[in-house]
Amino acid sequence: MFKNKVKNIPQHIGIIMDGNGRWASLQGLPRNMGHKEGINAVDRTIDALIKLGVSVVSFFAFSTENWKRSEQEITGIFNLVRDFLHSKRNNFKERGVKITTMGELEPFPEDLKKELELIKEDTKNNKKLTVNLALNYGGRADIVRAVNKLINEGAKEVTEKEILENLYSSDLPEPDFIIRTSGEKRISNFMLYQMAYSELYFPKVLWPNFNERHLRKALKEYAKRNRRFGGIK
Ligand code: FPP
Repeated sequence: MFKNKVKNIPQHIGIIMDGNGRWASLQGLPRNMGHKEGINAVDRTIDALIKLGVSVVSFFAFSTENWKRSEQEITGIFNLVRDFLHSKRNNFKERGVKITTMGELEPFPEDLKKELELIKEDTKNNKKLTVNLALNYGGRADIVRAVNKLINEGAKEVTEKEILENLYSSDLPEPDFIIRTSGEKRISNFMLYQMAYSELYFPKVLWPNFNERHLRKALKEYAKRNRRFGGIK
C-alpha cells in the first residue's frame, strides 16, 4: 500500500515544525506571522514530498501543551489551519493527497472541526501522499488512550502489538525519520510509542524558512543512516 519510488527514501516522515515564533521576532513581526509563514512552509513541503515519492508525513501542528499559549495565538493558529485546508481541499483531492488527523479534536472550534471533517471525507480514497495532522496531540495521551480502549474492551493485560494497533496512527507505518527544525533537540511528546526506532534529525533552519533544499539535505542524511532495529548488520 505504501510504495516508495526512490530507494532509501523514508516511507513515513514526522515533522516537528519549530521556530515560527523566533522567525517572526527576527523580522520584528507578531508571532502569528511566523505561523502564517509556517503554513507556507507546510504547503511547499507537501509539494516536495509528493515530488520525492514519500508516502506519509505527520506534521505536529498543535500539541496538548500548546493550549498554554495566549488565546490570540491559539485562535490565530486555528484560523490559519482552517483557511489552509479550505483553500487546498480540491487541490489535495485532485493530486492524491489524503488528510488524516491524530489527537482529540473535540475541544476545537466548530468551523475548524467542520473543515477537517470535509477534507478527510473528500480525500479518504487518495493514495499518493498521506498528510497526517497531529492536532491537540500528545504522545503520552495517545498511549494512555490506546490502553484504556483495550481495558474497556475487557483486556487485563496488553501487548506491545495491541497498543500499536490502537494508537491514532494505527493505519500508518511507524515514522522512519523525524525532523525537528530550529536546532532544538527534543521530541516534546510527539509520537512517543511510534518513534522507538525512528532516525532523528535536527537541522538549524527555522520552520518558516524550510524548503525543498532542506528536505533533500535531510533525506541525503537519512540515506546514510544504518538502521539496525536493535540487530547487527
Ligand atoms: C512551533 O513554533 C510551531 C507550532 C506551535 C505549530 C504552528 C502551527 C502551524 C504552522 C500550523 C500547521 C498547519 C498544518 C496544516 C500542518 P514556535 O511558535 O514554538 O516557535 P518558537 O519556538 O520560535 O517560539
